[in-house]
Amino acid sequence: MKIKSAEFVISNAKVNALPQHDMPEYAFIGRSNVGKSSLINAIADNKNLAKTSQKPGKTLLMNHFLINGEWYLVDLPGYGYASVSKKMRDDLEKMIKSYVLQREILTNLFVLIDCRHEPQAIDVEFMNFLGVNGIPFSIIFTKIDKLSQSQLNNNLKKYHDKLFETWEELPPMFATSSEKRIGIDDVLDYIEQINEEFKKAKQ
Ligand code: GTP
Ligand code: MG
Repeated sequence: MKIKSAEFVISNAKVNALPQHDMPEYAFIGRSNVGKSSLINAIADNKNLAKTSQKPGKTLLMNHFLINGEWYLVDLPGYGYASVSKKMRDDLEKMIKSYVLQREILTNLFVLIDCRHEPQAIDVEFMNFLGVNGIPFSIIFTKIDKLSQSQLNNNLKKYHDKLFETWEELPPMFATSSEKRIGIDDVLDYIEQINEEFKKAKQ
Protein backbone atom coordinates (compact mmCIF):
# COMPACT_ATOMS: atom_id res chain seq x y z
CA MET A 1 0.00 0.00 0.00
CA LYS A 2 1.26 3.44 -0.87
CA ILE A 3 1.09 6.17 1.75
CA LYS A 4 -0.21 9.30 0.06
CA SER A 5 -0.99 11.35 3.13
CA ALA A 6 -0.48 11.16 6.88
CA GLU A 7 -1.81 13.87 9.13
CA PHE A 8 -1.99 14.45 12.86
CA VAL A 9 -5.61 14.84 13.94
CA ILE A 10 -5.82 15.21 17.72
CA SER A 11 -4.27 14.32 21.10
CA ASN A 12 -6.58 13.19 23.86
CA ALA A 13 -6.56 12.05 27.46
CA LYS A 14 -10.23 11.01 27.56
CA VAL A 15 -11.82 8.18 25.62
CA ASN A 16 -15.15 10.00 25.34
CA ALA A 17 -13.43 12.91 23.54
CA LEU A 18 -11.79 10.80 20.80
CA PRO A 19 -12.63 11.60 17.16
CA GLN A 20 -15.87 10.08 15.88
CA HIS A 21 -15.47 8.29 12.57
CA ASP A 22 -16.37 5.07 10.79
CA MET A 23 -12.99 4.07 9.35
CA PRO A 24 -10.63 1.27 10.37
CA GLU A 25 -8.55 2.22 13.42
CA TYR A 26 -5.25 0.56 14.37
CA ALA A 27 -3.63 1.29 17.72
CA PHE A 28 -0.13 0.53 19.01
CA ILE A 29 0.57 -0.47 22.56
CA GLY A 30 3.43 -1.96 24.56
CA ARG A 31 5.94 -1.06 27.21
CA SER A 32 7.30 2.42 27.28
CA ASN A 33 10.26 2.83 24.88
CA VAL A 34 9.43 -0.34 22.89
CA GLY A 35 9.23 1.73 19.70
CA LYS A 36 5.51 2.48 19.18
CA SER A 37 5.91 6.04 17.93
CA SER A 38 8.89 5.10 15.75
CA LEU A 39 6.91 2.28 14.16
CA ILE A 40 3.98 4.60 13.44
CA ASN A 41 6.40 6.96 11.71
CA ALA A 42 7.88 4.11 9.66
CA ILE A 43 4.41 2.88 8.63
CA ALA A 44 3.27 6.40 7.75
CA ASP A 45 6.59 7.08 6.02
CA ASN A 46 7.05 10.31 7.94
CA LYS A 47 9.81 10.62 10.55
CA ASN A 48 8.22 13.63 12.21
CA LEU A 49 4.64 12.49 12.61
CA ALA A 50 4.70 10.91 16.09
CA LYS A 51 7.13 12.22 18.73
CA THR A 52 9.83 9.72 19.71
CA SER A 53 12.48 9.81 22.41
CA GLN A 54 15.41 7.82 23.78
CA LYS A 55 13.86 8.25 27.21
CA PRO A 56 10.78 6.22 28.13
CA GLY A 57 7.52 8.03 28.86
CA LYS A 58 7.46 10.26 25.78
CA THR A 59 3.90 9.59 24.62
CA LEU A 60 1.47 10.41 27.41
CA LEU A 61 -1.73 10.98 25.45
CA MET A 62 -3.72 9.12 22.78
CA ASN A 63 -2.73 10.56 19.40
CA HIS A 64 -4.82 10.02 16.27
CA PHE A 65 -3.28 10.15 12.78
CA LEU A 66 -5.35 9.93 9.59
CA ILE A 67 -3.67 7.97 6.80
CA ASN A 68 -4.63 8.35 3.14
CA GLY A 69 -7.87 9.95 4.37
CA GLU A 70 -9.14 6.39 4.88
CA TRP A 71 -7.86 4.84 8.10
CA TYR A 72 -6.40 5.82 11.45
CA LEU A 73 -3.25 5.00 13.36
CA VAL A 74 -3.33 5.63 17.11
CA ASP A 75 -0.19 6.15 19.17
CA LEU A 76 -0.81 5.24 22.81
CA PRO A 77 1.30 5.84 25.93
CA GLY A 78 3.37 2.86 27.05
CA TYR A 79 2.51 0.77 30.06
CA GLY A 80 4.79 -0.24 32.92
CA TYR A 81 6.91 2.91 32.88
CA ALA A 82 8.86 2.57 36.14
CA SER A 83 10.25 6.08 36.57
CA VAL A 84 7.00 7.92 37.24
CA SER A 85 4.83 8.06 40.34
CA LYS A 86 2.50 5.17 41.03
CA LYS A 87 -0.44 7.55 40.55
CA MET A 88 0.73 8.50 37.07
CA ARG A 89 1.39 4.88 36.14
CA ASP A 90 -2.10 3.92 37.35
CA ASP A 91 -3.67 6.83 35.45
CA LEU A 92 -1.90 5.80 32.23
CA GLU A 93 -2.94 2.20 32.67
CA LYS A 94 -6.54 3.31 33.22
CA MET A 95 -6.39 5.42 30.06
CA ILE A 96 -4.99 2.55 28.00
CA LYS A 97 -7.47 0.01 29.33
CA SER A 98 -10.47 2.28 28.86
CA TYR A 99 -9.35 3.00 25.28
CA VAL A 100 -9.03 -0.72 24.57
CA LEU A 101 -12.36 -1.64 26.19
CA GLN A 102 -14.49 1.30 25.08
CA ARG A 103 -13.23 2.13 21.62
CA GLU A 104 -15.71 0.19 19.52
CA ILE A 105 -14.15 1.24 16.22
CA LEU A 106 -10.76 -0.24 17.25
CA THR A 107 -10.09 -2.64 14.38
CA ASN A 108 -6.83 -4.17 15.50
CA LEU A 109 -4.46 -3.53 18.36
CA PHE A 110 -0.76 -4.09 17.68
CA VAL A 111 1.04 -5.21 20.83
CA LEU A 112 4.72 -4.34 20.53
CA ILE A 113 7.43 -6.43 22.16
CA ASP A 114 11.14 -5.57 22.19
CA CYS A 115 12.68 -8.62 20.47
CA ARG A 116 15.77 -8.46 22.69
CA HIS A 117 14.02 -9.41 25.91
CA GLU A 118 12.83 -12.68 27.39
CA PRO A 119 9.03 -12.89 27.67
CA GLN A 120 7.95 -10.42 30.36
CA ALA A 121 5.00 -11.00 32.68
CA ILE A 122 3.61 -7.50 32.08
CA ASP A 123 3.24 -8.17 28.31
CA VAL A 124 1.88 -11.69 28.70
CA GLU A 125 -0.65 -10.44 31.29
CA PHE A 126 -1.71 -7.61 28.99
CA MET A 127 -2.30 -10.07 26.14
CA ASN A 128 -4.31 -12.30 28.47
CA PHE A 129 -6.41 -9.25 29.37
CA LEU A 130 -7.03 -8.69 25.63
CA GLY A 131 -7.98 -12.35 25.17
CA VAL A 132 -10.42 -12.32 28.09
CA ASN A 133 -12.07 -9.22 26.66
CA GLY A 134 -12.14 -10.44 23.05
CA ILE A 135 -9.99 -7.60 21.69
CA PRO A 136 -8.47 -8.43 18.27
CA PHE A 137 -4.70 -8.05 18.43
CA SER A 138 -1.47 -8.92 16.67
CA ILE A 139 2.10 -8.95 17.95
CA ILE A 140 4.99 -6.95 16.53
CA PHE A 141 8.53 -7.71 17.67
CA THR A 142 10.45 -4.44 17.41
CA LYS A 143 14.09 -3.34 17.01
CA ILE A 144 15.17 -6.50 15.16
CA ASP A 145 18.19 -4.62 13.77
CA LYS A 146 19.68 -5.00 17.26
CA LEU A 147 19.88 -8.82 17.07
CA SER A 148 21.50 -11.36 14.75
CA GLN A 149 19.14 -13.64 12.84
CA SER A 150 19.92 -16.58 15.10
CA GLN A 151 19.43 -14.55 18.29
CA LEU A 152 16.13 -13.31 16.90
CA ASN A 153 14.94 -16.83 16.00
CA ASN A 154 15.92 -17.99 19.45
CA ASN A 155 13.95 -15.23 21.17
CA LEU A 156 10.90 -15.68 18.93
CA LYS A 157 10.88 -19.38 19.73
CA LYS A 158 10.96 -18.60 23.48
CA TYR A 159 8.02 -16.26 22.98
CA HIS A 160 6.00 -18.81 21.04
CA ASP A 161 6.63 -21.40 23.75
CA LYS A 162 5.60 -18.96 26.48
CA LEU A 163 2.36 -17.98 24.72
CA PHE A 164 1.46 -21.57 23.96
CA GLU A 165 1.35 -22.13 27.74
CA THR A 166 -1.91 -20.15 27.81
CA TRP A 167 -3.06 -19.81 24.18
CA GLU A 168 -4.21 -22.55 21.87
CA GLU A 169 -3.70 -20.44 18.80
CA LEU A 170 -1.32 -17.54 18.38
CA PRO A 171 -2.25 -14.17 16.88
CA PRO A 172 -0.54 -12.90 13.70
CA MET A 173 3.07 -11.93 14.40
CA PHE A 174 5.48 -9.55 12.72
CA ALA A 175 9.12 -8.65 13.23
CA THR A 176 10.20 -5.12 12.38
CA SER A 177 12.95 -2.55 12.49
CA SER A 178 11.76 1.03 12.16
CA GLU A 179 15.38 2.13 11.97
CA LYS A 180 16.26 -0.11 9.00
CA ARG A 181 12.74 -0.31 7.58
CA ILE A 182 12.51 -4.08 7.86
CA GLY A 183 9.09 -5.78 8.04
CA ILE A 184 7.19 -2.53 7.62
CA ASP A 185 5.68 -3.58 4.30
CA ASP A 186 4.40 -6.80 5.89
CA VAL A 187 2.52 -4.73 8.47
CA LEU A 188 1.22 -2.43 5.72
CA ASP A 189 0.02 -5.41 3.65
CA TYR A 190 -1.76 -6.78 6.71
CA ILE A 191 -3.46 -3.43 7.35
CA GLU A 192 -4.46 -3.20 3.70
CA GLN A 193 -6.02 -6.65 3.85
CA ILE A 194 -8.06 -5.73 6.95
CA ASN A 195 -9.06 -2.43 5.33
CA GLU A 196 -10.45 -4.38 2.36
CA GLU A 197 -12.43 -6.69 4.66
CA PHE A 198 -13.70 -3.66 6.54
CA LYS A 199 -14.90 -2.07 3.28
CA LYS A 200 -16.66 -5.27 2.17
CA ALA A 201 -18.38 -5.65 5.53
CA LYS A 202 -19.70 -2.09 5.26
CA GLN A 203 -21.21 -2.60 1.79
P1 GTP B 1 6.94 5.89 24.78
O1 GTP B 1 6.19 6.88 23.98
O2 GTP B 1 7.88 6.52 25.76
O3 GTP B 1 6.06 4.86 25.40
O4 GTP B 1 7.97 5.09 23.79
P2 GTP B 1 7.71 4.46 22.35
O5 GTP B 1 7.28 3.05 22.52
O6 GTP B 1 6.84 5.34 21.53
O7 GTP B 1 9.19 4.42 21.75
P3 GTP B 1 9.88 5.41 20.67
O8 GTP B 1 9.30 5.17 19.31
O9 GTP B 1 9.86 6.79 21.20
O10 GTP B 1 11.35 4.79 20.62
C1 GTP B 1 12.13 4.66 21.79
C2 GTP B 1 13.61 4.59 21.40
O11 GTP B 1 13.86 3.39 20.65
C3 GTP B 1 14.08 5.74 20.47
O12 GTP B 1 15.38 6.10 20.86
C4 GTP B 1 14.04 5.11 19.09
O13 GTP B 1 14.98 5.71 18.20
C5 GTP B 1 14.45 3.68 19.39
N1 GTP B 1 13.91 2.76 18.38
C6 GTP B 1 12.62 2.62 18.01
N2 GTP B 1 12.48 1.69 17.05
C7 GTP B 1 13.72 1.23 16.79
C8 GTP B 1 14.26 0.25 15.88
O14 GTP B 1 13.55 -0.39 15.08
N3 GTP B 1 15.61 0.04 15.92
C9 GTP B 1 16.43 0.72 16.76
N4 GTP B 1 17.73 0.43 16.74
N5 GTP B 1 15.98 1.65 17.63
C10 GTP B 1 14.64 1.90 17.64
MG1 MG C 1 5.74 6.99 22.04
